[in-house]
Amino acid sequence: MSETATRESVGRLLEEALRELSAARSPAEVEAVRVRYLGRKGTLTGVLRQLGALPPDERAAIGQASNEARRRLEEALAAAEPSAASAKGPALDPTLPGRSPLAGAPHLLRIVEDEITEIFHGMGFSVALGPDVEDEYHNFEALNIPRGHPAREAHDTFFLGDEVVLRTHTSPVQIRVMKSGPPPVRCIFPGRVYRNEAIDASHAAEFHQVEVLYVDRGVTMADLKGCLGRFARELLGSGVRVRFRPSFFPFTEPSAEMDISCFLCGGSGCRVCKRSGWIELLGCGMVHPAVFENVGYDPKEWTGYAAGVGIDRLAMLKYGVPDIRLFLENDLRILRQFR
Ligand code: DAH
Repeated sequence: MSETATRESVGRLLEEALRELSAARSPAEVEAVRVRYLGRKGTLTGVLRQLGALPPDERAAIGQASNEARRRLEEALAAAEPSAASAKGPALDPTLPGRSPLAGAPHLLRIVEDEITEIFHGMGFSVALGPDVEDEYHNFEALNIPRGHPAREAHDTFFLGDEVVLRTHTSPVQIRVMKSGPPPVRCIFPGRVYRNEAIDASHAAEFHQVEVLYVDRGVTMADLKGCLGRFARELLGSGVRVRFRPSFFPFTEPSAEMDISCFLCGGSGCRVCKRSGWIELLGCGMVHPAVFENVGYDPKEWTGYAAGVGIDRLAMLKYGVPDIRLFLENDLRILRQFR
């Protein structure tokens, strides 16, 4: 560049460069334009180099114009490269199927949890949540499982620190909810629970439960049976029968396990119900007076029932999922089947 640059000459330079660029038909031609204007010996580079030699009053104006020109040319170069490449490559094939956008969908466990929540909503229950990281007091002590109680050992607890655990069940939310306000309570608590178990097709170290809690004056075992029986029929079909077997949980007295007649074979016996005709669905019972005392409810005035349902196994049974680990692996081929 021998003559000194002016704003006009910089503008002409840019126009010229853009014109050449639009005529470029290959990546090599685009590159040639870049070198001609912005390369080490390029014309625009030359203008930028000359700036220092200009009188200060011109320097600012021309500096600004040429920097702007460089920016616009760089943008145009970046945009030109792909189109120059495709100008040479195969033509667009409009007969190819479009790529559909990836749509999210609820996880199967969420679907089953929502079904359960819906059913309990219909019976007047609301929903509350508790923390996954619990203290031993809420997870055990307040539920009538003192230190040294064999039920504690059965829980395969993950300890995070001194008296801090990953909750082994959703029952501690009972304590939190009852401590947060007076009775009556009619609430369910869904959530993830953790156990340090050997993992196989039917055991995972994290799985999901829904806890049920109903506290009022004069609640009896008949209320428990009515509520949980209706739950089973709404979830799995009106033909489902239920039966209660005596059981033991430290936080309920009496305690029971509820079985449902196998909804696959109707009770005649199949592989899923292990030929017994029955499937174990949940643990339940009448809230233990010691638990009421721990949360400050008067056990002479209030009674209630509680239940704990495992969501994963239920989802496996209902939707024929053969391995609990599939719920955690998030393989899209599996997830897509449950849209
Ligand atoms: N928390 C128990 C468990 O995880 C399940 C359970 C049993 C919950 C009986 C209850 C209940 O509320 O009444 O093994």
